Amino acid sequence: MLLHLPEVLSPADLAEVRAALGEAAWVDGRGTAGHLSAPVKHNAQLHWQDPSAVRLGTLVRMRLERNPMFVSAALPAQILPPLFNRYAGGGHYGPHVDGSIRPIDGTDRRLRTDLSLTVLLSDPADYDGGELVIEDLLGGRAVKLPAGDAILYPADTIHEVTPVTRGERLAAFTWIQSLVRDHADRQSLFELDAAIQRLPAGGETDAARLSLTNLYHRLMRRWADV
Ligand code: NI
Repeated sequence: MLLHLPEVLSPADLAEVRAALGEAAWVDGRGTAGHLSAPVKHNAQLHWQDPSAVRLGTLVRMRLERNPMFVSAALPAQILPPLFNRYAGGGHYGPHVDGSIRPIDGTDRRLRTDLSLTVLLSDPADYDGGELVIEDLLGGRAVKLPAGDAILYPADTIHEVTPVTRGERLAAFTWIQSLVRDHADRQSLFELDAAIQRLPAGGETDAARLSLTNLYHRLMRRWADV
């Protein structure tokens, strides 16, 4: 499931993040790529220890943790501290896969990457190209979103970022280990939760809501690893 999460960051958040990124010390993005990805990766990133990256990453993670649609869809067990990248001057990231297990920098822990997430930070009118293309059975879907919005997608997909031929494309990105590893199981819980949320309050629907909520948690007990 590809999910568009609108307005993960507010206009005030965006102004703060962009101002800090404008002063930031960008480094070659190949530093964090695996041996298959490095030759096709042409972008810049902030080092995970960069003070701006740490501060802004915490902000993005906090916004995600409080975003009801994100929490319902991702069922996060762990969110990797978000990182930041920049594509400009033809910068791109050719077709690649994300590694299944990632070390959590600065700790001795690791995370299984069930879901990938990108928060777009640049206004789409300010750059050309820079689409995130995620392969599916129809060939591929190109995603370009308003600044502050995010795309959540399965990490086990081949994907790419097309060349940015004008302006710059700034983004935050991260991976999530979900409580529910299986994509179809997780999507079923998301759809059930959304249906429960749509039930009007009062009368017989209160009893239906209680039954469906019980069913939601019963399925969660079957499918979640905690
Ligand atoms: Ni990737």
